[in-house]
Amino acid sequence: MQTRRVIGGEFELSEFKLGSPDMLSRLTRGLSGTWTLSGRSALSLILRTLQGEGIRHIHLPTYLCESLIQPVKALGLRYSFYPVEADLRAKPDPPSGAAVLIIHYFGWPNSAASDLRAEAGRSFQLIEDACQALLSDWSASVSVPRFIFLSPRKFGPTLLGGWCNVSVNLAEAPRDTTALVQRSLAARIARGAYLAEPDAPVNVSVERGYLEVFEAQERFLDDHPTYASVPQLVLDVAAGLDWGAIAARRRQNWQILSDCLRGYVEPVIPVLPPSVVPLGYVVRLKERDRVRARLAERRIFCPVHWPIPSVCRGYASREAIALAESCLTLPVDQRYGTEDMLYVADTLKALM
Ligand SMILES: Cc1ncc(COP(=O)(O)O)c(C=O)c1O
Repeated sequence: MQTRRVIGGEFELSEFKLGSPDMLSRLTRGLSGTWTLSGRSALSLILRTLQGEGIRHIHLPTYLCESLIQPVKALGLRYSFYPVEADLRAKPDPPSGAAVLIIHYFGWPNSAASDLRAEAGRSFQLIEDACQALLSDWSASVSVPRFIFLSPRKFGPTLLGGWCNVSVNLAEAPRDTTALVQRSLAARIARGAYLAEPDAPVNVSVERGYLEVFEAQERFLDDHPTYASVPQLVLDVAAGLDWGAIAARRRQNWQILSDCLRGYVEPVIPVLPPSVVPLGYVVRLKERDRVRARLAERRIFCPVHWPIPSVCRGYASREAIALAESCLTLPVDQRYGTEDMLYVADTLKALM
């Protein structure tokens, strides 16, 4: 009999606490800006601001989450792609007067950031995607003219939400958005209650039910990449999470996997500096899809960051294709402890 015990997948909510605005302000390092519905809608606010300043072209990395292209297309901007090296360093060559978007991959600051910040605001504008680096030190050099955006749901059960350092007054969230958030909350609470009995048998229809809600949520975001207003409930939940404890547990779990898997698998980034809070433990695997499927059979669900989107297939560098085809992100998040990490490491080793 397969039991409910699971590692990975969308965040459940087992306790539901509303927090204080002070906690949100700590999350955004006290910078002024705007909370939005998602990371991509935060990017759309930045792009609108840049359009207002005459920018018409965005230079994007070939190794990226496809959802980032949605607001660029929806706003009618031109775009081009630049290569990313095997160590994830951005190598942009922007046309004059364009905006360059860099990603701080998996929680680590992009090593091209300091050179780009030195030139930002002169021959190009700089947009930093810190969605995977929410709890890392993305606010270093805040005085540089650059645009930053976040997506806290990658790090905790915040239902939805995004943030960017552009200040805009948004209208109240429309009804369909509020309904979406309510369904997301209900599905996460249901998942929390279901997983509270880890030794009970799997109930396929219950699992399918909350997965359908999460898939519908992603479709809504895909269909509305420029919908910016966010219901207050999202911010209340985000403010109620203990982000300090989340950061500490993620770092601890990353270190356990790093120690246990040394010599068995190749990590994409082998060292965890003190200022980094990782999204996951990202490894390169020759037979990534086979291993991923075997892990899923053991109820360890690992995301792939990311397949190469069809629009940039012709431009992707060899290194970006290799990353897209070999990377697997092992979960290290706060829901798990030492025993879980040992289970992940032992299961993976047995598949090597
Ligand atoms: C690096 C990165 N930036 C931005 C986004 C978009 O964030 P959201 O899904 O909140 O729109 C994603 C989505 O997964 C992402 O991985």
